[in-house]
Amino acid sequence: MGSGKGYGKTILFGEHFVVFGHPAIASALGSYTTAEVKVVEGKGWTVDDQRPATPGYKKKKFDEAMQSITNVIEHLGIDIETQQLEIAFAGDLIAASGVGASAAQCTSLARALNDSFNLNLDDEKINEAAYEGEKAYHGTPSGIDNTASTYGGLIWFIKNLSGGKNTMDLLQSPNKMPLVIANSGITASTTEVVADVRQLKEENPEKFDKIFNEYKILANEAKKALLDGNINAVAKLMNQNHKLLQEITVSGEINDKLVNLALENGALGAKMTGTGRGGLVIALAENEVTQEKIAVAIEKEGYDAWKTLIG
Ligand code: MEV
Repeated sequence: MGSGKGYGKTILFGEHFVVFGHPAIASALGSYTTAEVKVVEGKGWTVDDQRPATPGYKKKKFDEAMQSITNVIEHLGIDIETQQLEIAFAGDLIAASGVGASAAQCTSLARALNDSFNLNLDDEKINEAAYEGEKAYHGTPSGIDNTASTYGGLIWFIKNLSGGKNTMDLLQSPNKMPLVIANSGITASTTEVVADVRQLKEENPEKFDKIFNEYKILANEAKKALLDGNINAVAKLMNQNHKLLQEITVSGEINDKLVNLALENGALGAKMTGTGRGGLVIALAENEVTQEKIAVAIEKEGYDAWKTLIG
């Protein structure tokens, strides 16, 4: 039996922009997905998915999940002709759109196969295998989700569009900042939303160039604010990033509703995170009292709210 885990993540800055080679900042979450692999007689593989999940998530993502498992197994060259793999997923990460659930699943599987077959893979190779799995979920993933899932921590990430090594720097903020993650309960297709943005960009190159230029400045300011532990600056930049995400049409009505709800209840800053058009919203709070107030207000409206610390 082999086992492994992969962390969930939240993107603090730069979802979608990251696909086009702009910097993004993600924080791994304390919650993770676990995978166990048992080798038995037979061929092929079976899967038992016991991850907690937002209703409808697993159904909507079923085909992609199956393909991602195949991708990881093939990438690692595991023989499934003369043996069968019994794969089981669990853990405390609630599978939802925006939390890096697919990356956590791919990473945990790569680690479990590494353990099961003594492949001696380092984190870089685990990350590469998880990236192959992510292709089934994202179409053209930037790689930020699997990188956060593999390495943990607070990550500055730039995708190398020429296919070379991506830039990945671990950031350390002097302050831990309280964050609320609000779940709209709506599962979006990352492949579809990313493809949509690509098309819109091709149709409106000037508009997108302007937005991308604005975002690039914002991303560098966000990195500095996090490194300085300047929570007010981080929050202000989150609000600005949300506006840019609205402009590229990925923030849905529900995202805007949850952002406003968080701001009305004392959040210093808030934005959608991940794919958008549903999925999750994050809100930064000055302290744990406000964090609780925001979470309660969101739950009162009927949405799940999770509390975490970033930095
Ligand atoms: C999804 O969590 C993040 C996106 O930027 C897609 C990607 O980076 O592959 C929307």
